[in-house]
Amino acid sequence: MSLDEIQLGTERLLLRAPTVSDADALRAIVADPRVALTTASIPHPYPDSGVLEFIERVRALAGPDRRNFAITVSPSGSLIGMVGFVSSDREAELAYMLSPEQWGRGYATEAAREVVRFVFGSTRVSAVTARAMTANPASENVLRRAGFTCEGEDDVELPIRGAVCRTSFWRIEREHHDPPIWATGRSDRQT
Ligand SMILES: CC(C)(COP(=O)(O)OP(=O)(O)OC[C@H]1O[C@@H](n2cnc3c(N)ncnc32)[C@H](O)[C@@H]1OP(=O)(O)O)[C@@H](O)C(=O)NCCC(=O)NCCS
Repeated sequence: MSLDEIQLGTERLLLRAPTVSDADALRAIVADPRVALTTASIPHPYPDSGVLEFIERVRALAGPDRRNFAITVSPSGSLIGMVGFVSSDREAELAYMLSPEQWGRGYATEAAREVVRFVFGSTRVSAVTARAMTANPASENVLRRAGFTCEGEDDVELPIRGAVCRTSFWRIEREHHDPPIWATGRSDRQT
C-alpha cells in the first residue's frame, strides 16, 4: 500500500499523508508562536526551509512504526493541523497540533482518538503515551477526552525551548482502549 493511500476518516476529518502542496498551510500553523511554544519539537522562529524539510522527512520515515497525518476537514480538504505517532516495540507516543483558528471545535480530540485507534489496530504496542506541558491545559484536555490517564508529572529540560518545563505524562493501555464508543458512525477510509 502506498503512503498516500493510508487515510483515516472520522465524522468530520480526513487524516492523510502530508504532501509538498501542503507547505503554505502548514507553514502558517507551525510559524505561529501560539502553536510552537507549547511543543517540545517546533522551533521558534521557524526556519524558512523548515516546512518542506519536515514534509520530506515525515514522508521518508513513514512506516508501520511511525506516521504523521495532515488533519484535513471534510469535505473541503483544508489542512488544519498535524497528528502523528512514533513507536518502539512496546509503546507509541502521540503528538498533535492544530491551527489556532480551529481551536475549540473538538478537532484535535477527534484526530487523536482516531490515531490511537489506528495505532492499536496496526501495531502490537501495549500502550500509547503522550506528554503535555502542564502550562498547556488544552492539550491535557485533549488527552483526557481521548481516554488517556495522567501518570504524573516532572520537570523536563527542553533544549528547543531553552527551558525546563513542567510536563505531565499520559498513557492509554490497549486493554483500556474502547474504540466502539467513539468509532460509532465514523467512515473508515483506511485502505
Ligand atoms: C493542543 C491543541 C491541539 C488543543 O486544541 P483544542 O481546540 O483545544 O482541542 P480540541 O480540538 O479537542 O477542542 C476541544 C475544545 O472544543 C470544544 N468542542 C466543541 N465541539 C467539540 C466536539 N465535538 N468534541 C470535543 N470537543 C468539542 C471542547 O469543549 C473544547 O473546548 P474548551 O477547551 O473550551 O472546553 C491546540 O491548543 C494546539 O494545537 N496547541 C499548540 C500545539 C500543542 O500544544 N500541541 C500539543 C503538544 S503536547
